[in-house]
Amino acid sequence: MTYLYNSGFGNEFATEAVAGALPKGQNSPQKAPFGLYAEQVSGTAFTAPRHYNQRTWLYRIRPSVVHKPYVQISNGLLRSTPFDEVTTPPNQLRWSPIPLPSTPVTFVDGIVSMAGNGDSTVHTGVAIHVYAANTSMIDTFFYNADGEMLIVPQLGTLIMFTEMGYLEVAPGEICVIPRGIKFRVELPDGASRGYICENYGTSFRLPDLGPIGANGLANPRDFLTPVAAFEDKVGTYHVIAKFLGNLWKSELDHSPLNVVAWHGNYAPYKYDLANFNCINSVTFDHPDPSIYTVLTAPSEIPGTANCDFVIFPPRWMVAEHTFRPPWFHRNFMNEFMGLIIGAYDAKAEGFVPGGCSLHNCMSGHGPDSATYEKASNGELKPHYLDNTLAFMFETRFVCRPTKYAMETGELQLDYYTCWQGLKPEFGR
Ligand SMILES: [Fe+2]
Repeated sequence: MTYLYNSGFGNEFATEAVAGALPKGQNSPQKAPFGLYAEQVSGTAFTAPRHYNQRTWLYRIRPSVVHKPYVQISNGLLRSTPFDEVTTPPNQLRWSPIPLPSTPVTFVDGIVSMAGNGDSTVHTGVAIHVYAANTSMIDTFFYNADGEMLIVPQLGTLIMFTEMGYLEVAPGEICVIPRGIKFRVELPDGASRGYICENYGTSFRLPDLGPIGANGLANPRDFLTPVAAFEDKVGTYHVIAKFLGNLWKSELDHSPLNVVAWHGNYAPYKYDLANFNCINSVTFDHPDPSIYTVLTAPSEIPGTANCDFVIFPPRWMVAEHTFRPPWFHRNFMNEFMGLIIGAYDAKAEGFVPGGCSLHNCMSGHGPDSATYEKASNGELKPHYLDNTLAFMFETRFVCRPTKYAMETGELQLDYYTCWQGLKPEFGR
C-alpha cells in the first residue's frame, strides 16, 4: 500500500479523504458536509501564542464523546511519574536489548518503561520506554493524555493508523503522535522493537538555527504528515487511554478512526533521519552534540530543554588535531542513548542495536578503553563514519530508572569495567 503525506513542519494542513468533506470557511457550520460531526482537538491552551498554538478541526462520522465509560486496567510494565520505585544510583547504566516476545504481544502491550523524570501532572519531564512486539493491533486503539510520543523503531516497520491518516515508519525513521490522538499499530514485519520518548512537556519543535542560517539540521520540508483516511466500520472496538499514569479501557461500537477530513496544525508526523543535514567542524575540535539536535521540547528555562532528540548519523569526520570519538564528559543534562543501526563510535562493544544506556547528571562517561587506545593512535585523515545510527534523549531532569530497568537481566552489571583499562600515563 502506498501512503500519502503532506510535507512541512507544523503547517496548517487541510486534507479530505472525500472531496467536499472539508467545509470552506466556517469551522463548525450548522451542518457539516455529508452529515459529518465537527470536533476541535486542541494541543495547547486556546490562548497559547499564535506561533505555539496547536489545534485541528476534525470532520468525523461520530464525535469522540461516543463511548462507554473507561474502566481501569493493568499498567503492565508501563510506569509514570513519580519514578520512585527504586533509588536512582549515580552509576553509568547500560542495557542489552529487551527480548522479543514469544507469545502474541501488540505495540501497546509491549511497552516497557525504563526511566523517567518530572511530573506528568504539571506537564514537565519525560518517560522513556522501549517496546518489543509481534502482533498488530486490529480492534484496539490507544491514546495518551499524558504526553506526546516520539517513537524510534529499531526493528520492524510500524504502520501507524491514526485519526488523521496513516504513517509508515521504518527503522531509520521516527514518528511523533501528539497527546490525545488515537491510533493503532500494525506490524507488517512481525517482530518489532524500538524506543519511545513520552514527552510530558511542551511539544517537540525544530530548534532555532542561529548563525547556521535558514537551512540545515532537520529541514521542515522533510517532515511528513498523513493525508486524511478513515474507517467507516461498526462492531466492537476498544480504546485504551493513558491518563494520569494509568491505563483505562473503553468499549465503543465503531472504529474511532472515522475522520473523513481535517485541517489544522496538530497532527502526527514522521521524519527520515537520513535527511538530517549534519553541521560539524571542518577545522579542529568537536562541537557539542547539540549540533545534532533533530527536535527540541523547550522548558521555561532558555536553552534548557525538557527533552532534546539528538542523533549521531553516518557522516564525514575531517577535523584535524582532534580526538575523534566523543570526549570524556560529565553533564548537567541527563543522557539516555539508544542504537538503531550498526555501532557507536565511542564504544568498542556492549552497546548494540536495540540496547540503551543512561548517563545521569554529573556521572562520568565517554569512550571505553579500547576506543580511547585506538582513537589516540589512529591516523587522522578524512574518514566516513558509516554503519551507525545512534540517538539520545537528553533531558534536564535526572532520569530515574524503573524497578524493571534495575532488576532485569538485560542490565549490564559489568558496564563499568569498559573504562577500567584507562591507566595513568602522566609521568610514566
Ligand atoms: Fe555526554
